[in-house]
Amino acid sequence: MKLEFKNLKELHEYYAVHNNCKLKDVATQPVYEIDPPKEGIVLIGEAPGKNEDLQGRPFVGAAGKFLNDLLDHVGLQREDIYVSNVVKYRPPANRDPQEEEKDACRVWLNAELLYIKPRIIVTLGRHALSRFVPDANISSCHGNVFMHKSRIPVFAMFHPAAALYNPNLKETMFKDMEKLVDYLKKLPAIEEKEEAINDLLKL
Ligand code: URA
Repeated sequence: MKLEFKNLKELHEYYAVHNNCKLKDVATQPVYEIDPPKEGIVLIGEAPGKNEDLQGRPFVGAAGKFLNDLLDHVGLQREDIYVSNVVKYRPPANRDPQEEEKDACRVWLNAELLYIKPRIIVTLGRHALSRFVPDANISSCHGNVFMHKSRIPVFAMFHPAAALYNPNLKETMFKDMEKLVDYLKKLPAIEEKEEAINDLLKL
């Protein structure tokens, strides 16, 4: 059965009920964004933190503030992009999400990507990277593009929170944002890409 959704809000409300992620028993609420990105750019983080859990929206805490600085550096706004997470619920005490939690949220993230049909996926950190480029190492892969079998390019970046713990990474992340924007300039516009993605998106 192919599910059809009127908008992202409806999609999220459906998957908030139809998922068996155990974290939903301990989190305040699922965390998601409801506006599609104006520039077809989807960023994928790891899992919500405390502020996200309270507000129900991704990247609204300290990591989100640095993400905004990164976007600002290359002239992008939050509405140009869409942010999601591999796991939709906050893990207790911000521990790493476990494999079974990532698996439980997998179809939800797939559904978001199928709905949005992004021009590019930007992975933030190792959990999102390994979801699209298995066995890749973030330290050697950041700043590079990988062609996913769906033919959606995947651009690897460190997680913004990593730069909060290790400020030396900030400069690297600003440089990677510049590389991302250079790459985007070479990509076809959203409308031209849509038809190809419709056929090929099998994440
Ligand atoms: N870190 C993440 O990976 N996701 C968020 O939404 C916030 C912080």
